[in-house]
Formats: sequence, C-alpha cells, structure tokens
Amino acid sequence: MCHMTTNSLGPWTPDSWQAYTAPQQPEWPDDGALKEVLSTLSGYPPIVFAGEARDLRAKLADVAAGKAFLLQGGDCAETFSAFGANNIRDKLKVILQMAVVLTYGAQMPVLKVGRIAGQFAKPRSANTETVDGVELPSFRGDAVNDITFTADARVPDPTRLLRMYNQSAATLNLLRAFTRGGFADLERVHAWNQQFVLDSPQGQRYEQLASEIERALKFLVACGVDVASDPRFHEVDFFTSHEALLLGYEQAMTRQDSLTGEWYDTSAHMLWIGERTRDPDGAHTHFLSGVHNPIGVKLGPTATVDEAVALAARLNPENEPGRLTFITRMGVEAVESALPPLVRGVRDAGLNVVWSVDPMHGNTITVAGYKTRRFEDVLQEVRVFFGVHHQEGTLPGGLHMELTGENVTECLGGAQDIADLDLQTRYETACDPRLNNQQSLELAFSVAEMIRS
Ligand code: PEP
Ligand code: CO
Repeated sequence: MCHMTTNSLGPWTPDSWQAYTAPQQPEWPDDGALKEVLSTLSGYPPIVFAGEARDLRAKLADVAAGKAFLLQGGDCAETFSAFGANNIRDKLKVILQMAVVLTYGAQMPVLKVGRIAGQFAKPRSANTETVDGVELPSFRGDAVNDITFTADARVPDPTRLLRMYNQSAATLNLLRAFTRGGFADLERVHAWNQQFVLDSPQGQRYEQLASEIERALKFLVACGVDVASDPRFHEVDFFTSHEALLLGYEQAMTRQDSLTGEWYDTSAHMLWIGERTRDPDGAHTHFLSGVHNPIGVKLGPTATVDEAVALAARLNPENEPGRLTFITRMGVEAVESALPPLVRGVRDAGLNVVWSVDPMHGNTITVAGYKTRRFEDVLQEVRVFFGVHHQEGTLPGGLHMELTGENVTECLGGAQDIADLDLQTRYETACDPRLNNQQSLELAFSVAEMIRS
C-alpha cells in the first residue's frame, strides 16, 4: 500500500504540515532554541515501537467489530511535579480496576489505553488569563510553560519538550514493568483496590467482584487449565495516547518503520486531534494523515456530518477499521440533539470508525470558583451515547475519561456526594477536573450494565 498521502499542497512528509494553518501552537520566543531542541529530539530513540501501534490498530478493529470495548483514560494534563512511581501506579490501578469491572461485568475484552506518558500539552480557549486585573499568557501545559501566574513562568520554554520526552519515556518504562512484571497479574486483582476505597460502596462492590474472579481462577485450575504459566492471566496490554497538539514535537518523534517503510509517530501508540484543532484542512489533520498510528478525533456539538466525512477521507482514505476513532464530547445539554444526526450521517456514508464517548469535556461548569463537572451529567451523557447507538444500529465502542487514582474532590456528586463546598478539600488538577478513584469505579459499574443490556 502506498504510504504517501497526497492532497492539494503536495505529498506528505513529516514536515509538510508546516504549509498548513496550525492553531494552538505556542509563540516560542527563540526560534533557534526551539530548532535545537527539535533536532536533539529527532535523534533520540523512539518512545514506542511501530509494531505496538500496529497491534493497537488491530485491536481497535476488534472494537469496531463489536468484539472488544475501548477504555481510554488518565489525567487531563500530566505534570512535571507529579512525576513519581506512586502516582503512575495509582493511575494504572484505577484503570485496571475499571477494566476488570467492564471485562467481568460486560463479558467483553477491554482494550486499555492511558492518557499518559505524553499528555503534557493543552489547547486553550483563550490566549490569555486575567487574575485580579493582571493579564498573562495562558498556561499551555508543562510541555510549554509553567502554571505559576507570573510573566516569566508563562514564557514558552522549548527545553520543556526535552523534559516531556524524558518523563514520557520513564513513565512508559514503569508502565511496561508494572504490566509485564506481575503487578497486573489477575491473581492480584484484590491488590488494585486502594485502602481509602475499601469501605466505600464501590470499593466493597469491587471486592466482591474480585473474590468472584479469584474463585473463577481456582475453578479453571481445578479443571486443569494451566493458569500459572499462561501469560494471559498475568500480563496486560497497556497502550499510551495523548493529544497530538505540538506539531514540532510530534514531527521530531516521527520515524520511518524499518519493516514496512511506513511513518509512525513514536511519541505514543495512539494520537488524537482535539476539538479545537480538528479542521479537516488544517495542519493537525494533515500531519496525522501521514502517520500509521491509530488516530482519534474529538467531535463536539458543532461538528457536522460533512466535517466528519472530510476527516475520514483525509485520515482513513482506505476506510480500514481500527485506524480512526471518533470521540464524541457533546455535553449533556446537546448530546440528544447533536449525536443522532452525526452517527446516522457517518453510518450512511459507510465509514468504518470506532465510536467512543468523552463525557467530560462537554460537561465542564464553574461552581464556587472551581472548574468542575457533575458526576450525574457525565453518567447521563454516557447513557444517551449508548441509547443513540442502540437506536441507530451502530456500536458504542469506547469510553474516554479524565480520571486519577487519587482521592481528589474535583467533580461533584457520585456516591460520595461531593458538594460545592467540598471542592476546595482536594482540588489538585493542572487543568480539567478529574473523576476520583471511587467515581471512576462507580462509572465503570454503570457502563458494564449498559454494555450488558
Ligand atoms: C482534552 O481531551 O483534554 C481536551 C482538551 O478535549 P477537547 O479537545 O475535546 O476539548
Ligand atoms: Co481536559
């Protein structure tokens, strides 16, 4: 198959996006310093391998066929300060817990993809932020500038891209060790539950399910299945993803696969295009059209069928299942009116896509000065997503979440009933509010029921 994607401006190369309009790029103050960093990065080893990205693509084709479910989740923004083994372990724990709830509850393989090991850059609705009459450039993620509200801190610094690379590589290294080295062993399913969750209704429900899994494993052993030496019970496949926002960085990480000659963006297994950069004729779409990783595109309430069809034509001209995931993030207000026509139009155009729901980004509100989300809105958008796909005869294939393994108080509601006044207790996100461990589990139990029915 030809790996050159052509369009009006000529053949695709890793740098051909530069001829297109690229929104949401930082204004780096020193072009020379940026070039030096990018040149250094382009000589560094890949973070992921092409073969792994191909493996994920094949697994996403199973999702497109209704044979598996996609669980994608992690921080809104990773930070340089929260870089430590416990933090990475706890995020993995909550994703493994959710996955086991979904796998067991829905009797369906669950594909685990983290928003992790590279999710350091943020698109912003406004270029500046004003506090007490002082206006400064917005924080664009630790990959670009510092969250501290001073003029110096907000100047984009390209050496941060090197830190992003290093932290991503070290994070993935630890994730590989955790998922291959015994931590993700199904026989340790109880150990993924955290002490502070144990007494909660979700924690107890999880313990019960973990005990059932334990008994099922013992049953298999009694039947003569060699559970001990079968890696399927002891290891999990875990993939990485982030928004491909900073195109200079993504270009520097793009390499030609020696086996196939195809180009891969080796910064993560899966890359997605955000709601603010999904112009079918823009630089982000163009750049990702030429790499062979699986690609996601966020689609908000203003997305039209024509745009979705144009995006698919650019990003998946061969219409291969597993290449393209549409991640709808309509918000609870718009989802009932905006989702059905979009799903119908894409279905009628015969496009092979995975449909996933991001019930976070359309449901952000401000309460008591905090950016937050109501658990009930999140759950309701997921319910409507399942309902619409059921009605249109399409497949609800995945869930895209902002979550953390910590016991934070960033989203309202859930069984813990986090209220307006509780937000200040543990509000720690560097960007958007995340579901905490208990809220994430609660959602997983509900989604498992939706898949089953
Ligand atoms: C995100 O996923 O962090 C994000 C900014 O989402 P969206 O592009 O859908 O607004
Ligand atoms: Co976010």
